Amino acid sequence: MAVTKRLSRLALGLVFASGLAGERAFAGELSAGKAKAEATCQVCHGLDGRAVIPMAANLSGQQKEYIIAQLEAYRGGKRHHEQMSIIAKMLTDDDIENVAEWYSSIEITIVMPE
Ligand code: HEC
Repeated sequence: MAVTKRLSRLALGLVFASGLAGERAFAGELSAGKAKAEATCQVCHGLDGRAVIPMAANLSGQQKEYIIAQLEAYRGGKRHHEQMSIIAKMLTDDDIENVAEWYSSIEITIVMPE
C-alpha cells in the first residue's frame, strides 16, 4: 500500500517534471492541500470550504483558477485584506495550488430558491 502510494507519487512527479518544464502547472496535490487547509484555513473557511465566520468566503466548489488568482493577488498586494494578506504571504506557490486543488475538488449541490 505504502509502496504503491510512493510509486504513484513518483509517477506524478515525473509527469510534471517531463511534461511541464517551464510552464506553470495548475495541478495541486489533494492530500497536501487538505493538510494545509486543516492547518491554516479551516478556522475561517472550514475544512469543507463552508465558511465558519460570516466575513469569510465559502470556498468549496470554487473554480481552482479563481482561488489561485485571489491568493496570488493577496500575496502580491493587488488585493488587500487585513487577515488574508498576511496569510497569503505565508503560502508558497505549491501551497496555493494544493489548497486550490482541495477546495475546488469539494463537490457542492446547488438548490435555487423557489
Ligand atoms: C482568520 C480567518 C481566515 C483564515 C485563517 C483564512 N482566511 Fe481566507 N478569507 C478570510 C476572509 C475574512 C476573507 C474575505 C476577504 C476579503 O473581503 O477580501 C477571505 C477570503 C479568501 C479568499 C477569496 C475568496 C473570494 O471569493 O474572492 C480565498 C481564495 C481565501 N480566503 C483562501 C484562504 C486559504 C486557502 C486559507 C488558508 C491557507 C485562508 N483563506 C485562511 C478569512 C480567513
